[in-house]
Amino acid sequence: MSDGLKGIKTVRDFELKGKTVFLRLDLNVPMDKEGNITDETRITASLPTIKYCFEKGAKIIIASHLGRPKTSADRQYSMEPVAKRLGELLDLEVVLMEEPDSEGVKHILYGPMKNQIICLENLRFDQGEVENSTELAVMWTSYADIYINDAFGASHRAHASISALPEMMQEKGVGFLIEKEIKMLDGLFDKPQKPYIAVLGGSKVSDKIPVIEKLINVVDGFVIGGAMAYTFLKAQGVEVGKSLVEADKLKYAKEMIERIEARGKTLLLPVDHITSQAFGDTKNIRVTTNHQIKENEIGLDIGPKTIELYKKYLAEAKTVFWNGPMGVFETTEFSKGTFAIAEVMAANPGTMIVGGGDSAAAAEISGFADKMTHISTGGGASLEYLQGERLPGLEVLRKRKQSESSTSTPTF
Ligand code: 3PG
Repeated sequence: MSDGLKGIKTVRDFELKGKTVFLRLDLNVPMDKEGNITDETRITASLPTIKYCFEKGAKIIIASHLGRPKTSADRQYSMEPVAKRLGELLDLEVVLMEEPDSEGVKHILYGPMKNQIICLENLRFDQGEVENSTELAVMWTSYADIYINDAFGASHRAHASISALPEMMQEKGVGFLIEKEIKMLDGLFDKPQKPYIAVLGGSKVSDKIPVIEKLINVVDGFVIGGAMAYTFLKAQGVEVGKSLVEADKLKYAKEMIERIEARGKTLLLPVDHITSQAFGDTKNIRVTTNHQIKENEIGLDIGPKTIELYKKYLAEAKTVFWNGPMGVFETTEFSKGTFAIAEVMAANPGTMIVGGGDSAAAAEISGFADKMTHISTGGGASLEYLQGERLPGLEVLRKRKQSESSTSTPTF
């Protein structure tokens, strides 16, 4: 088990009435070219903590980054649409503050502030945020009594609003979203209901090695899809044509297959594929008859026999952890495999956890998102947490014994 939330306060532990809460959220939502929010999961997931603070009589300053702007001139990264949507969902006036050290913030904070909350402009408009600037943190401490981090998706970043600021604050803790994320992710290692299956996909084996290493001792089986499957197949001597293969991971994949077998666990790899002749080529699509891919072809999704095999296996699981798509799901012709995983998980009454990033987006697009037990709002952050890394945004909130080393290894 990890240290989870051990030694970390939650928003419930504070007397909030009349206090100013600096609420760090991850409102980094995807937007289209017109500036419309295309997935508001991270906004809705943040509402319980905002509402709680508001109902308890706190004055609220919401702070988040949005995208990766270079300067404040990158107006497409303005928090304006997010602040607007927050206001609609909360039925409150969300005042967007361009200059966080302006008199405007203080004016609102020290005024009656009825039905108003403050939302700071994109934190990354100031380079000090990503540089973990002490100066920026000092400025924020001038008006915050309590610091709450509910930005799970950004907690792996040692940035000013995640690290330098809480380092300086006495009163600090996490919100309800982080509490839930940690509970769900820890649950994957702490007596999960069996059979427990990990579904791993995405393009690279190398991205998933640390998480495979953590999971190998707890799961009953792995289901592999996406381009990473081709590295595993090639390691077994299967012909995979022009499909993406990580040549330097073939040895690892071969050893991995042996280690899984030696433990008496299951490893399911695709038995057929949807192929084409290049990325983006939807003219030369072919369903292979078996796991071999022709020399001039590239695998872009798992095939129908594989879908049936995976569905049958996953239907019997009591716990499923899914991270990474089975194919190029953004293209309709190569989306069936990924959506089939979402569908079978949605129909399973067990504990169904979707890691963040692409699989979360796929679950959302598939229309099955609301049937999952939990969809992590963190992409990089959830993977790092599952790998057993200590997240700066959590560690800074943990009460430490003087003697305890900050570099001790986490133990899942
Ligand atoms: C995410 O989208 O994973 C988080 O908001 C973190 O964003 P970043 O990768 O730009 O730091």
